[in-house]
Amino acid sequence: MSELPRLPDPAVIVLVGPSASGKSTWAAAHFRTVEIVCSDALRAVVGSGEHDLEATVEAFELLNLIVAGRTKRCLTTVIDTLGLDQARRRRYLQLARAAGLPAVVVVMRTPAAECRRRNAARDRPVPAAALRGQIDRLSTVVVEIQAEGWDVIVHEGQAEPDNTPGLPSATRPSPGSAPDNSAAMGLVLQISRFPWGADPAEWLVGIADAAQDAGFGGIALMDHLIQIPQVGRAWEPIPEPFVTLGLLAGRTSRLRLGTLVSPVTFRPAGVLAKTVATLDVLSGGRTFCGIGAGWWDREHAAYGVPFPAAKARLDQLEVAIQTCRALWSPGTKPYRGDRVDLPETTCYPRPISPIPIIVGGSGERRTLRIAAHSADGCNLPSDLETLGRKVATLRRHCADVGRNPDEVTITVLDIPIIGADRDQVASKVERLRGRTAASAFARRHHAGQIGEHVDRYRVLAERGVGTVFVSLPDLLGPADIHALAPLAAAVTGV
Ligand code: UTP
Ligand code: MG
Repeated sequence: MSELPRLPDPAVIVLVGPSASGKSTWAAAHFRTVEIVCSDALRAVVGSGEHDLEATVEAFELLNLIVAGRTKRCLTTVIDTLGLDQARRRRYLQLARAAGLPAVVVVMRTPAAECRRRNAARDRPVPAAALRGQIDRLSTVVVEIQAEGWDVIVHEGQAEPDNTPGLPSATRPSPGSAPDNSAAMGLVLQISRFPWGADPAEWLVGIADAAQDAGFGGIALMDHLIQIPQVGRAWEPIPEPFVTLGLLAGRTSRLRLGTLVSPVTFRPAGVLAKTVATLDVLSGGRTFCGIGAGWWDREHAAYGVPFPAAKARLDQLEVAIQTCRALWSPGTKPYRGDRVDLPETTCYPRPISPIPIIVGGSGERRTLRIAAHSADGCNLPSDLETLGRKVATLRRHCADVGRNPDEVTITVLDIPIIGADRDQVASKVERLRGRTAASAFARRHHAGQIGEHVDRYRVLAERGVGTVFVSLPDLLGPADIHALAPLAAAVTGV
């Protein structure tokens, strides 16, 4: 059996082929049992067995109900029937359209003689005349489906899919090179959850060692005072990031270290500059600095930290960037910028090397403008459509402020769900999705097997993304990190 071509997922997939052409075998090899709805199996549910033709009407009623229920929820559905009836195919196509799902038809092109041989070897072969009728009908069906409007037509046992809209190979632009500046770090592990058990420091060091072995370029920590609801529960640990990065600075030798991102509301700008400069010195020049305007009112209220309105926080972001740059520069002279006035810039120790500032947050009007004006990197969402739009906006701001866009590295935060096989992917989605619909949750987290993520990360690299911050929503320990080595290779091109 040939490898499954990369099909859209979720999708409605209609199998077409005569008896014994291998439809059920193909479905079982590529999809989870619950994703396959099979008219023969349903005959056995409402009738005496798979071959009980008198149960056909009810079996198809049940099949239609199942297909409608699954497509409505945007769940991948493989329809395993002969597929030779045009009216039925059109009904499945309509259900796919109504749900906004891609519609795929897979035609089994098993040679007629092979179908006959396999059929004859069965306990209850289909009568030879019936099989001949199906085989004859197939050539007409192949013509019919061309005009029916399927998004993808696969001839199984033959070449590639006819068309693959929306697939990476179809959308991938010609390879370009990622900008080579200091915020381009390849793959960086963002740790957002800390299931560290009895020994937090050893857990952290174990994760960091695994990241280094797997080819990660760095470690980023979230900067929150309470664990955020998108990640976990409020009583789960979320350590102060700079103390934690200090530990990692002492226990690692190559990884870049920083936050993604520190809200500028937490620390006066100069104190942030001091903290990051110290981390840089103690890590031997391995620091980066992710900052943003902050968003979560609850953590500010709980810790007695003022949380001004968005405009004031964005002003603070500009102040923080200017202050850091001033205090990290050589000399102690006064600094006078458009937002900051410092009587002296006495900040020792100075950082060892230029510290890249990465602005997080993708508000198009102001945040991206601040990034265009004064950041070394700009952190954006990882889904390709949003990314394309935000990058275009960032570039426009760069043109407006007279900045070379190549000086601003594009970074993305990606929170993938990765499973060893289709079953594990689905069970992870079901375990982690909370109240979000499974299909929406799977889409948001690009749920898939490692090869699908590798393809996606290659596309990100080709689109000029210099750093992918990857955060595992189900991180437990070092083994989860080791499994990500192929992603590091995809981003760094090694
Ligand atoms: P299937 O049972 O998969 O065929 O294979 P089908 O198309 O779904 O048939 P119907 O329409 O439900 O009747 C038929 C036989 O061929 C073998 C299977 O093991 C099964 O016994 N087979 C299938 C192979 O030997 N090789 C294959 O690549 C596929
Ligand atoms: Mg079958």
